Amino acid sequence: MPVPDTKHDNPLTAGINITQAPQPCTLVIFGGGGDLTRRKLLPAIYNQALEGELPANFAALGFAIEQMDDGQYRDFARKGIEQFSRQPLEPDYWSDFERCLHYLQGSFDNPDAYVQLAQRLKEIESNFGIPGNRVFYLAIPPALIETCVCQLKAAGLVMPIDENSPFSRIIVEKPIGRDLESARKVNATLSQNFHEQQIYRIDHYLGKETVQNILAMRFGNAIFEPLWNAKHIDHVQITVAEEEGVGTRAGYYDSAGALRDMIQNHILQLLTLIAMEPPWIMDADVIRDHRQDILNCLRPITSENFDQHVVRAQYGPGFHHGEDVPGYRREAGVAQDSITETYIALKLFIDNWRWAGVPFYIRTGKRMPKRASEIAIQFKSVPPILFNANHDQPLEPNVLALSIQPNEGLSLRIATKLPGTKLKIFPVKMDFRYGSTFGEQSPEAYERLLLDVMAGDATLFMRRDSVESSWAWVDNILNVWASSRTRWIPEYAAGTWGPLEADRLIESDNRKWRML
Ligand code: BG6
Repeated sequence: MPVPDTKHDNPLTAGINITQAPQPCTLVIFGGGGDLTRRKLLPAIYNQALEGELPANFAALGFAIEQMDDGQYRDFARKGIEQFSRQPLEPDYWSDFERCLHYLQGSFDNPDAYVQLAQRLKEIESNFGIPGNRVFYLAIPPALIETCVCQLKAAGLVMPIDENSPFSRIIVEKPIGRDLESARKVNATLSQNFHEQQIYRIDHYLGKETVQNILAMRFGNAIFEPLWNAKHIDHVQITVAEEEGVGTRAGYYDSAGALRDMIQNHILQLLTLIAMEPPWIMDADVIRDHRQDILNCLRPITSENFDQHVVRAQYGPGFHHGEDVPGYRREAGVAQDSITETYIALKLFIDNWRWAGVPFYIRTGKRMPKRASEIAIQFKSVPPILFNANHDQPLEPNVLALSIQPNEGLSLRIATKLPGTKLKIFPVKMDFRYGSTFGEQSPEAYERLLLDVMAGDATLFMRRDSVESSWAWVDNILNVWASSRTRWIPEYAAGTWGPLEADRLIESDNRKWRML
């Protein structure tokens, strides 16, 4: 595929490249006519193409039930890209790009559709000089995973792993199950049909620029790692706040809730990156082993200590951008007596030597005052002498805050002397922002993750054991909720930072949620 001349070499961003090159392939998108494809996947491919990141021999094939031909699919893609792409659609480049987009209509449970799929793939591969490498992206509801995976295998479309043959890789979207048992079933089906090395369980949080920067910051600098432990760190706060309500997704969300939707996957994955031991090599399995160690050390939350560790809540009516918005139970598609949590706050511990006794406070919710995701490492206070001798005015401790989105960046709060004749201490922030430093837009998570699959790099994907360990830990909480049989859930007004109960959870430890 030709590369437009928008690609440039910025000496600032040239950096040290440790990524592998994506290999020529066809990306087959199951659910190619759906929302995820329109909003994320097609814009991701377009941006990669525009920046010359895609392999030279590349094609995409949407596969779905909707009636479309190639031309209509290209129109569908164009509209999605015009609306959702990070970079505007360039009309001159579009005619080159659109040639790589194809469509096949078919029903996922019909074996004949897979015969046609195989046929279509051969034609595309011969036209585009693609050596038979295929990435199957399941952008479909979870209930269809089993059907698609088994049909692919039955149609002979899954090649065994062999260095000298073309590859078959499969990308699976969350949710993988809704508890440990169902996740194991999905994983078992995947494993019966694909080798674990061919399976890429996507968690788009791992593809976010700032999330990847956690590794770069921790292990590319000498100053953090010696302090990164229970001796120096007082506690860690992870916040993922969303402004939006449930929107049009009540069908899925009302039977999921914040614990399943955000904690089980995205936030536990963030936690593993913050807490893991240093890997000695950038190898997918070494890094994933280290992340897995953290999940293995999570202290279970049980009915005995539940109320000190977990608060759930649901948004009630309130304001959003100055306008009245309905409470969760009045949203379209939500059961009127729903007790699904749209907010959850947790205190958890990692029982290993590095983190012994350090609380991790986590909160996530919908309909918060603003979109803000942050990981804050709060260091211990200096001893109560010298500048910190006044009990009524303790010094603010050092905080390293990683801002995941928006305003991606990193800041360190330190104490300095206020200018003047008196010796007064004042907290200031050393601030780094991606936008102002590099002046370039970061790629979207899906862009990076798709390229990683084409390159065969599974570092930023969830392995089977990690999905199941996360569910095992989350199941403890789900079980306590299920056994309580309550029909009541605390409420917070839409547009606020969550319920009072969540403030109490942290304040009873003499700490406070950070103001974002
Ligand atoms: C998805 C959840 O996985 O992540 C959504 O299902 C949530 O409920 C979304 O809104 C948040 O992603 P981001 O990238 O907008 O923070």
